[in-house]
Amino acid sequence: MTRHTKYQSRFAAAVLAASAFFPATVRAADCDLAAGAKLFQDQQCAGCHTFVPDDFDKSGPNLHGVVGRKAGTANFGGYSDALKKTGITWDSAALDRWITNPAAVAPGTAMPFAGLPDAQARATLVCYLTEKSR
Ligand code: HEC
Repeated sequence: MTRHTKYQSRFAAAVLAASAFFPATVRAADCDLAAGAKLFQDQQCAGCHTFVPDDFDKSGPNLHGVVGRKAGTANFGGYSDALKKTGITWDSAALDRWITNPAAVAPGTAMPFAGLPDAQARATLVCYLTEKSR
């Protein structure tokens, strides 16, 4: 090994060590509400759901206050027995599972949604739902 390459590899090691202390990928755990709103539109959730309190004029249950609520207990006539008998209380983990594959959570569900396989997109959407449901 020549002197030159030895210095180069020392430099490379120093850069690696520095980037381990300051990883470029670390971000605040804040919700990206704009990205969440876009997903809520693009994934068609908005066609069937609203967060507007006391607005029941949609083909899916109102999501105002959904976090912390028991599944199938909003003022909505179209619930399936499948969802009601799950006994779920909606939190981030349950919502994530639901959006991954509703039919796996409640076989026979009335929600016609195939599922969102992208975990990062689901995290953004669940964060948005949690904020908007307040
Ligand atoms: C075509 C209409 C439709 C679409 C699209 C849709 N939903 Fe639903 N959603 C429903 C229906 C109907 C139910 C009730 C399901 C049941 O009772 O089995 C439901 C149930 C839910 C529930 C449970 C609510 C409760 O009161 O227990 C959540 C949360 C939810 N949907 C979120 C979403 C999200 C997020 C999306 C988009 C990724 C979405 N939905 C897409 C119609 C829809």
